[in-house]
Amino acid sequence: MVSNATAKVELTIDGQSLKVDATATVLEVALAHQVEIPYFCYHPYLSVPGNCRQCEVKVGSRQEDGSIRWMPKLQVSCNMPVAEGLVVDTRCDEVIQAQKNNMEFLLINHPLDCPICDQVGECWLQEHAYTAGMGETRFREEKVHMDKRVDIGPHVLLDKERCIQCTRCIRFCDEVTGTSELALMARGNHTEVDIFPGRPLDNPYSGNVVDICPVGALTLKEFRFKSRLWFLKTADSICPGCARGCNIKIWHRDHAIARLTPRDNPEVNKSWMCDQGRLLAPTLEAGERVREPRVEGKAVDWQEALDEAVSRLRRSGRPAGVIHPWSTLEEGWLALKVLAAAGEGGRPMLMALPAHEQGEDDDLLLRADKSPNRRGLENLLTARDAESASVADLLDRAVAGELSALLVVGEDLATLVSEEKLAAATAAGLELIVVASHENATTRAGTIVLPAGIFPEVDGTVVNFQGRVQVMRAAYPPPFLARTGAWILTRLASRLGDGSEDARPRDLFDELAAQVPAFQGLTFARLGAGGCVLPGGACETPASGSVG
Ligand code: SF4
Ligand code: SF4
Ligand code: FES
Repeated sequence: MVSNATAKVELTIDGQSLKVDATATVLEVALAHQVEIPYFCYHPYLSVPGNCRQCEVKVGSRQEDGSIRWMPKLQVSCNMPVAEGLVVDTRCDEVIQAQKNNMEFLLINHPLDCPICDQVGECWLQEHAYTAGMGETRFREEKVHMDKRVDIGPHVLLDKERCIQCTRCIRFCDEVTGTSELALMARGNHTEVDIFPGRPLDNPYSGNVVDICPVGALTLKEFRFKSRLWFLKTADSICPGCARGCNIKIWHRDHAIARLTPRDNPEVNKSWMCDQGRLLAPTLEAGERVREPRVEGKAVDWQEALDEAVSRLRRSGRPAGVIHPWSTLEEGWLALKVLAAAGEGGRPMLMALPAHEQGEDDDLLLRADKSPNRRGLENLLTARDAESASVADLLDRAVAGELSALLVVGEDLATLVSEEKLAAATAAGLELIVVASHENATTRAGTIVLPAGIFPEVDGTVVNFQGRVQVMRAAYPPPFLARTGAWILTRLASRLGDGSEDARPRDLFDELAAQVPAFQGLTFARLGAGGCVLPGGACETPASGSVG
């Protein structure tokens, strides 16, 4: 028996014959096959109310004699199931006229304040007005005026006049967060979207309503009027805010994050992200950056800093390492290579992967583990038989004279142990080789400080809590004289005789995948847009990078 999920039907859209899943709708098939049908209220992860009417198409069924029996009225394609022999016309005069009529209704009370609207450049109303707008209005009456700049929550402002009542935001709060803060109030042309008195839109995912609002009715306070979209560049990356690893787009300008928005990955975050992740930028951009390489407090060039670091690591006989779970797989792999190459051999590498404070979690996306790559780094440590230790243990060994060099990648040790304990270890002769983005107690105590990049300046791969390997892409390079962690560590490893200093993150991933059993069968090229799950490397590639 063929299950419904795999059953296929044959239909024709604009003369194109297609074999498609029997459970799909006409709009889903059209979107998957690049047939353009305009729409507003449909969203792939929400229920289908069919209320905007912009997606109407002409539908008929092919008769035995080859003729087509058309349905008497146009149908909304978002709510029209496919069927064997269905014939769909998305371009005939009747459909184009229906789109124009609908647009005319939608624009009657619209304020047309595009020059001061933040949605310009990504407004669906504006976009469809270009293709199906009348070009001029026949409406001579006074428009209905509504409140603008309504503060409906800590992150979201509402402009009621711009709302086209598609109900996407309402359905998100009803169906995804289950918090139901928003509703349609009043009737007729006075219908407006609003919150209930005293109940702000303050759920931990409130920013998503801004992403899915097809017009400029909902805007994010933190991004409002910050930049026109066409001045921004984008990079597809992974949120480093927790072990979920939501797929995101970094919008940036002048080496700074302008906003973070979700990218579609049905297996990880659908097309949502939490407000904590969305608003990470101020935390990432706070604090003083390490500007140049230093040896014993003195600024030096990279050549000297790297040579000095190698000589101190080698001199120690058995250096140990500490790696922050924000580090990429490539940084972790390289740190292990550096320790192995600098050690005298015969004994396992000594490495700490510190536990950090757990945070908030829920049933939707947020994970208590705020480390984007703990699972990936654990795999590497196991594969290289590294002896694991706590930071406190390593510092005790230094005080006891058993450890004289510590490679610290991304961690501020003083957030894990007291500054006194750190000072006691350095006073006992422990040399700290610190790869760090920001100045902190560890860089101040560092013998050698190597300025490094941090998200979103870093290319590499991370493994989320599901075991999915995903690609993080840099939006812009690290500032001042800083370099990425992978750049620094490849040069240390190369000076110690392990590998070329020209290895790129993708080469390093392929190298580690060939040697670490959990990653076997994977290559950087296979990871694609959707990532691959460990072990075994099942990879899916989402159809598109973003969902409107
Ligand atoms: S505010 Fe935006 S998402 Fe909500 S109903 Fe209006 S147009 Fe739709
Ligand atoms: S759930 Fe986690 S990974 Fe996703 S956006 Fe929030 S902090 Fe980032
Ligand atoms: S998208 Fe089909 S009715 Fe709105």
